[in-house]
Amino acid sequence: MNEADLKKLLKDLTWQEKVGQLIQLSGDFFSSEEALAVGPKQKLGITQETVDLAGSVLNVAGAKKTREIQEKWLQKSRHKIPLLFMADIVYGYRTVFPIPLGLGATWNPDLIKQAYRVTAAEAKASGVHVTFAPMVDLVRDARWGRCLESTGEDTTLNAAFARAMVTGLQHVELGKITGIAACVKHFAAYGAAEGGREYNTVDMSERRLREDYLPGYKAAVEAGSELVMTSFNTYDGIPVTGNEFLLKQILRDEWGFDGVIISDYAAVLELVAHGIAADEKEATLLAMNATNDIDMKTGCYAKQLEPLVREGKLDSKRIDDAVWRVLKLKNKLGLFEDPYRGASSEREQEMLLTEENRNLAYQVAAQSIVLLENKNHTLPLAKNHQKILLVGPYGDNQNLIGLWAIHGNTSDVITIKEAISQHVSSEQFHYTAGCEMLSDYRFLGEFGGSKDQLMRMPQAKREQALAEALRQGEKADVIIYAMGEHTMQSGEAGSRADITLPDVQKEFIQEMLALGKTNILITISGRPLVLTEEAKQMDAILQAWFPGTEGGRVLADILFGKINPSGRLSMSFPYSVGQLPIYYNGFQTGRPLNSKTHSGRFVSKYLDSPNAPLYPFGYGLSYSYVELSDLALDDVEMTEKLQVSVQVKNNSSRSVLETVQLYVQDIVGSVVRPNRELKKFKKINLEAQESATVHFTLTREDLYYYTKNMDFSVEAGDFNVFVGRNSRDTLQASFTLK
Ligand code: NOJ
Repeated sequence: MNEADLKKLLKDLTWQEKVGQLIQLSGDFFSSEEALAVGPKQKLGITQETVDLAGSVLNVAGAKKTREIQEKWLQKSRHKIPLLFMADIVYGYRTVFPIPLGLGATWNPDLIKQAYRVTAAEAKASGVHVTFAPMVDLVRDARWGRCLESTGEDTTLNAAFARAMVTGLQHVELGKITGIAACVKHFAAYGAAEGGREYNTVDMSERRLREDYLPGYKAAVEAGSELVMTSFNTYDGIPVTGNEFLLKQILRDEWGFDGVIISDYAAVLELVAHGIAADEKEATLLAMNATNDIDMKTGCYAKQLEPLVREGKLDSKRIDDAVWRVLKLKNKLGLFEDPYRGASSEREQEMLLTEENRNLAYQVAAQSIVLLENKNHTLPLAKNHQKILLVGPYGDNQNLIGLWAIHGNTSDVITIKEAISQHVSSEQFHYTAGCEMLSDYRFLGEFGGSKDQLMRMPQAKREQALAEALRQGEKADVIIYAMGEHTMQSGEAGSRADITLPDVQKEFIQEMLALGKTNILITISGRPLVLTEEAKQMDAILQAWFPGTEGGRVLADILFGKINPSGRLSMSFPYSVGQLPIYYNGFQTGRPLNSKTHSGRFVSKYLDSPNAPLYPFGYGLSYSYVELSDLALDDVEMTEKLQVSVQVKNNSSRSVLETVQLYVQDIVGSVVRPNRELKKFKKINLEAQESATVHFTLTREDLYYYTKNMDFSVEAGDFNVFVGRNSRDTLQASFTLK
């Protein structure tokens, strides 16, 4: 539709029709059985008329279903304004990729762009127009369950992934049949919830906000993300959904974002619970004044917009602006010309979970899994002469796709057991679970219901399971433990205060260790766990995240050396929970551990834990030994740019993917600068024994930061450059910025 017609449409809308465009309801409201919607309607206090005018639908997918709903709604719509279908498709639609923390560990934004492209194509075939992704919340506290959805703790890396994900999703003009609109979330700083506790307060300096937390969202907006979702947290005492500083000043005015802002689920009404609005009316006014356009899943906008305007508290232009943005989005998606665009059962048949898509999921998982330990070259396993026992609750478990893969299907997943059995003979390989996932399921709460405890094995069965594992373990040379968190222990509302393996699994490991065999741990988790004990006990550890549809196959191929592991952590693995939050790019204190002026007790440290994490940011092993040497700068001074080079040598007989990481430290600034900050990285392939020179161009712009006066600029002075395979083990050089 051309702009003039769209403007005319806006003008022709009645008051109620306009408000309808700003309301998003979930699938139950759109059920064909009227009765089903009664409960939800009553809960929100809205009328059937409001439901009939709603502009968008939350989390309904599938070509047949979305087409049916659209068709029914268009019959009722006076102006034939199509519904927008929005859904949570965070790391794959039917073909499920590793969780985003695993995607972060690939350090390969180009590959992830392809993954999001595939995701968009699958979702579009199933009738989805907008996905609530990418999630780019920077996170430094592994207690927060939503680490799962983030690419990690680093600003530069997160921004690179944010760009890749948005361009992957929106890779063609949205009105064509494969791209879908991105909705970057959760703006802003949601990942900094105090204590890692879900929905908790966020409070930080504006400098930290702008420098560390905002660039990921900004990168997504610059890459063209059509929508932005507000976050649940407060910032500086004001919940984001009603926060004019964040939404209006930064997002709209400074960044020029003119797309749709949607509140997170019920976040408008939660302004009341936060204690910043007395009632729904005040909450609505705050959200509207902050330029939040769509109200997800509350009755606030539906009931309060009209009285607010009537009473002269809200300018009706604000409503027109919001509706205009929604209509523009629908138009951009080509829905006025074809409200079913791209959605058909035939296309679903053709496009979902194709061989090609599975191959891509395999490649991504292959680059996401991180080898944390490999003592005495335990891995890869020799195929012929070892007897292998696989144990653990994830050994024969198809649930390798994690909590947020709501459109994925666990039955598509090949288990670790099946995948290993394709490598070795049945005489050589045995599987027995040995232990349960958890000893207490009550935390599952509403998800599991009262029958949760029934999921526990009776005592006698538990003893039998252990006895069987010990009996099989006696006969084995190698024991592989497929352990980890229950799916419900991470993701939204999955905060944990103890982030070790569940007790029942740790106890089982202790029993098995007494057998004195070679021990290999595979960890399935939505966050960095504290693996300090396991690091001592195990001969090898593979951090597998929730690796997705192809995860089982990839793990087996890593175990037997078909894949040389190349994942690198995008989040530090703490040594102890007490260290949290922990991240590699902190400030130097006045009394650092290696202080020349203080010693003994009076330095910045814990009495009972090291300062350093167990595994630092950027860390990961491979089956090759890659050596870095000859770090060189083309000048000792920089005016506009500097060339940095380093020699990289693969001293092994297998090809390897290595990630070369470049960090910078501004030694003296008008405000204290981080010990080091990632500025550049390159993932390169080296054949057996191959050497290469890796080049980076460091520019003046790379050194910008928020100085004492909050100017985003640079200050002349001395800098260190560190280049290495992780953030800890690096070569060093220095230069002076003129
Ligand atoms: C709440 C979550 O915080 C958000 O990430 C999600 O997109 C919405 N619910 C919609 O399901």
